[in-house]
Amino acid sequence: MFNIFKSKPKAARPIFAPLISDMHCHLLPRVDDGSKSEEESVTCLRVMKAAGFESVFFTPHYTIPRFPNEEQDILNRFSDLKLDIAAHGGYDGPQLLGIAGEYRVDPGFNDRIQQQKFLLVGGKYLLMEFSLHQQVMGLDQVLFDLQMKNYDIILAHPERYPYYSSSSHVLQHFKDMGVFFQINILSLSGFYGEGPRRKAFEMIENGWVEFLGTDMHNTLYAQALIDATHDRKIEKVIEKHTFMNRLLTHPEEANEKKF
Ligand SMILES: [Fe+2]
Repeated sequence: MFNIFKSKPKAARPIFAPLISDMHCHLLPRVDDGSKSEEESVTCLRVMKAAGFESVFFTPHYTIPRFPNEEQDILNRFSDLKLDIAAHGGYDGPQLLGIAGEYRVDPGFNDRIQQQKFLLVGGKYLLMEFSLHQQVMGLDQVLFDLQMKNYDIILAHPERYPYYSSSSHVLQHFKDMGVFFQINILSLSGFYGEGPRRKAFEMIENGWVEFLGTDMHNTLYAQALIDATHDRKIEKVIEKHTFMNRLLTHPEEANEKKF
């Protein structure tokens, strides 16, 4: 196992134990801009375990044209990875609880809704993201169509969309429509800059945030997660607020029946 650290690493503290599960990361190797190898995934997973996570849901990107992933292929790759890890023995990371997706609202999204083509977090939640650069138009209709099909929607990292940074009314509107919010843990440590950091704390204090996720992509994020476990302000957030991560359960049957 390679070492991501140049010198002796600072140990992670298990401050995220109350969350139990991480529900947003990109550790299925070579399917998106996340982990590039099984080895890198296991290294990141060990850091997550040391940070307190008992279980994890993988959520690869589904984005046309950049990551045109297909659900059946993703399910197969996830099974292969689990077999691979078990075959090597000695795995001491979090349980690989499920495979879902982070679905970008892109030109193919309407077809997805019609075909109900989604892998859900915990067999229940649709994790959705927008472009970070350009505001999506017609979102009300998209949300309405999803809700008509009874999806529970989680919006990934609302603190990171720059075009909403001064549009709290839009975020309020999403909350009014029953959309759950998931904040990136690394937003709280300033990994994405001061704007997202401030917004993330503000949204949590507003009571707008139901889920936290690592959005872990690679070992750079793993190092940042270790640092985050030494941040007293983040620790206080975890102590003070209750998040829905802990309610997530094994989704395999619900997902596999569909594909
Ligand atoms: Fe992500």
